[in-house]
Amino acid sequence: MKKILLITLLTLFSFTSFSQEKIWEETAEEKKERLAWWTNDRFGMFIHWGTYSLAGRHEWVKKNERIPDEKYQKYFDNFNPDLFNPTEWAKMAKAAGMKYAVITAKHHEGFTLFDSNFTDYKATNTAYGKDLLKEWVEAFRAEDLKIGFYYSLIDWHHPEYTIDRVHPQSASTDEAYKHLNRGRDMGIYRKYLKDQVREIMTNYGKVDILWLDYSFPGKHGKDRNDWGSVELLKMVRELQPGIIINDRADLKDVPGGWDFTTPEQFKVSEWPTYDGIKIPWETCQTFSGSWGYYRDEMTWKNNKQLLVLLIESVSKGGNLLLNVGPTGRGTIDHRAEKALKEMGQWMKFNSRSIYGATQAPEEFVAPDHSLLTYNPETNRLYVHLLDYPLQNFTLRGLKGKVKYAQFLHDASEILITEPHGYWGKEKLGEGDINLSLPVVKPNVEIPVIELILK
Ligand code: GLC
Repeated sequence: MKKILLITLLTLFSFTSFSQEKIWEETAEEKKERLAWWTNDRFGMFIHWGTYSLAGRHEWVKKNERIPDEKYQKYFDNFNPDLFNPTEWAKMAKAAGMKYAVITAKHHEGFTLFDSNFTDYKATNTAYGKDLLKEWVEAFRAEDLKIGFYYSLIDWHHPEYTIDRVHPQSASTDEAYKHLNRGRDMGIYRKYLKDQVREIMTNYGKVDILWLDYSFPGKHGKDRNDWGSVELLKMVRELQPGIIINDRADLKDVPGGWDFTTPEQFKVSEWPTYDGIKIPWETCQTFSGSWGYYRDEMTWKNNKQLLVLLIESVSKGGNLLLNVGPTGRGTIDHRAEKALKEMGQWMKFNSRSIYGATQAPEEFVAPDHSLLTYNPETNRLYVHLLDYPLQNFTLRGLKGKVKYAQFLHDASEILITEPHGYWGKEKLGEGDINLSLPVVKPNVEIPVIELILK
């Protein structure tokens, strides 16, 4: 009995001291400063690339089809991206209006794009023979893009990584797990993961973002203790003090354990909060339903949907990380290329409503079928017209607040007038103003009205 009590007390004690552990000290203001470039830039490219790109049917193909290592080996053996030209990728990202990019240095399959002293399962040992991460970093930096590494905490290749419920060899009974994990030592994997993260945090110069993926606590799951998350993040912050880190290492309650939250394939209904406080966030999204190259996947979002994802994120104070899954030959496939081009066409003329913009102050109410963003530095309000209205366009509560109104894409004045016709006049409230829009929708997917406020 005494022994049980002691164990309980000890566990409780170690848990509380653990959860109160700090990774580093920083004021809210300092954090805001550290994240300033990222909150300003708003739009980044996610890149999922690995040997799964050869299967061409999802980066989870190993798990989805429960493929054993021996059979999965063919993707490694045939990996040779002869058309890989990261400068081309970087130029595409830049032309789309993206300002940073995050690439899978290692995904769940365990294969590393980088040269590592701790594994043979790496790009340098494939027919391609070179450190892909190095080439990628150099090309993206040269185009002035900030760089980020995705590193999978999960590893479906490492022999010491214990089988869990998301592993390709996942089991259905406790007994089976026990049997499968006999002889596997997570401690060895934990060290391996830390060693590899140290490599990518030291061998590639300044790294702007680290994207760790992911924790799934609970039965046959994995959490901060499995990864050694606290020690891992301490090391990362020491090696790269300016770095921005996502929130998937299971350290939500540890100060310094994360910088932003990551709603995945999900449109938030409002600015996400933690402990009642609005937090930095970035939604990650695919063009179609897979992160890795998926030849036969057909659910591609159209240009308007993609633009709405971007605008709506900014309108709620967040970022968009939009994913491409390059092919096994190292090219961005034609559908993604087209989508990026179209976004770039819009961004060329409208990025002022995105960069440096955020959620509009509450006093401004978005008109029907529109999304608002606001730049607090310039005091300009942006109305994105998702469904182009007919001439009369009412702005509620803006009377006396607008100095000048124009379309953003061509800086053509929009007149503030009395509404056309009797019906329009009827509808205009006390504090409202009416804009007189041209009948013909401008040749822009989503036209933007720029309001220069007093
Ligand atoms: C998930 C998936 C993964 C993808 C990631 C992107 O965690 O496991 O395949 O890389 O989300 O957010």
